[in-house]
Amino acid sequence: MRRGAASSTLVIGDSTWWRDAVFYQVYVRSFADSNGDGIGDLEGITSRIGYLDLLGVDALWLTPFYPSPMADHGYDVADPRDVDPLFGDLAAFERLLAEAHAHGIRVTIDLVPNHTSAQHPWFTTALASPPGSKERERYIFAEGNGSEPPNNWVSAFGGPAWTRVPDGQWYLHLFAPEQPDLNWDNPEVRADMERTLRFWLEHGVDGFRIDVAHGMAKPPTLADMDPRIIEAQRRGEDVFATDLRTDPRWDNEGVHDIHRGIRKVVEEYQGTVTVGEVCVHDDERFARYVRPDELHLGFNFRLLQAEFGAEPMRAAIEHTLAAVQDTGAPPTWTLSNHDVSREVTRYGGGELGRARARAMLLVELALPGAVFLYNGAELGLPDVDLPDWALQDPRWERSGHTQRGRDACRVPLPWEGEAPGYGFTPGERSWLPMPEHWAGLTAAAQLEDPDSTLSLYRKAIELRHTDPSFAGTEIEWYGAPEGCLAFRRKGGGLTCALNTTGAPVPRPPGKLLLASGPFDGDELAPNTAVWLTA
Ligand code: GLC
Ligand code: CA
Repeated sequence: MRRGAASSTLVIGDSTWWRDAVFYQVYVRSFADSNGDGIGDLEGITSRIGYLDLLGVDALWLTPFYPSPMADHGYDVADPRDVDPLFGDLAAFERLLAEAHAHGIRVTIDLVPNHTSAQHPWFTTALASPPGSKERERYIFAEGNGSEPPNNWVSAFGGPAWTRVPDGQWYLHLFAPEQPDLNWDNPEVRADMERTLRFWLEHGVDGFRIDVAHGMAKPPTLADMDPRIIEAQRRGEDVFATDLRTDPRWDNEGVHDIHRGIRKVVEEYQGTVTVGEVCVHDDERFARYVRPDELHLGFNFRLLQAEFGAEPMRAAIEHTLAAVQDTGAPPTWTLSNHDVSREVTRYGGGELGRARARAMLLVELALPGAVFLYNGAELGLPDVDLPDWALQDPRWERSGHTQRGRDACRVPLPWEGEAPGYGFTPGERSWLPMPEHWAGLTAAAQLEDPDSTLSLYRKAIELRHTDPSFAGTEIEWYGAPEGCLAFRRKGGGLTCALNTTGAPVPRPPGKLLLASGPFDGDELAPNTAVWLTA
């Protein structure tokens, strides 16, 4: 077991703590605002470490807090080795790190190696330098075809992936034009990444979440992409939920050498971890990212992409396990993050969506491997239907107002009180408006209520950390009635059963450890999961 009730400090030398850790993603803008400007900040997080300790998580993942013009809310980094004044300063980061460590909570931070901000000094210098100069070699500049861009690639946010500069050349941006892609064939780019890694490792961080870990390397020919993928993306389909072998923008061979370079540096700091955002659906392609000299962990998005239902969930679990089976890396599980609709909403919204999200939490936490929780999921927050004027995600503008983007899942967390603001900010306004009806969802309201979603999270995480039935790294499936699934942890014997149907079903045998909803002892109610032991 890792961190338990008895030890609240980090065990030095526990170098594989991440293999079954519960990570908690802090979307920094939306977690807690200390100074009243309506935007979450580092001091705000420090003031809430006690809450995270009560919740019982092992580690944090902080989204980017580096100097940034915020075209993509910090994923456009102008200086990877400093703190944006909006979020605090380096001293505030050090206080946060010290406070988290004092509570036995590790801290991992986001790294954005695929691109920089257009305001990064490298890019402003590149623009001021002529075509063919070494300044332009740090990015991907190319000549177009007459007045057309170098190829037909589209940005992940919609629109062309190329922007023309006044001298006629084009630069590549797989995301917003304010996020030019770096040229990873340039040794300067690699050297700078190493500096960044060491900078934060020397500050004492416990690892990195690596943004767009399937990007970075580009194919040498910059050949056109399949127009069908462009169409699918335009329709709003999740293009990462398919095999990417025909999409030249991602998952290129060269990316693995980059991960090996990162791993080499991180290896010098014992007990640190890398987790990559690996949007690669195919199991075998995924496995290549978590080979022993590459990433420690890769986000597997299968569970998040699965519809609520026994068959799709079982398939997602089997694929996630199969993808890492021969790699030595543990599987990872995620139900939501700052880029997708929250699970309560995805599973149907309202009380139904919340019941299903609670059930899926028990499924997720019953599985062996590392779990990533997204802030606010523990409060059962749904997406928020924001008015057009409030939308800020670049996807909204770049899709010509056809895709609303990701703001709905990024609304600030409600901490206490009866009215918008809800203790998130001492100021008048939050950066995205908070709904009128969230008083019952605040952390304060839920802490007192044993049936709340927050209480369920706390109990579930605590049991996962302390109950011997969670031992082992393998599962076996049980036969289950249609629309249900049941599996057992082979080592410790924990059974998890989920009923996704509209009717009660007989429950598997065993002593009840925890239920996600009302449980009468005999039957498993609709949209409910239970944990049972022998
Ligand atoms: C990742 C991040 C997302 C960001 C994008 C570009 O997918 O999770 O929020 O917009 O990379 O950096
Ligand atoms: Ca603030």
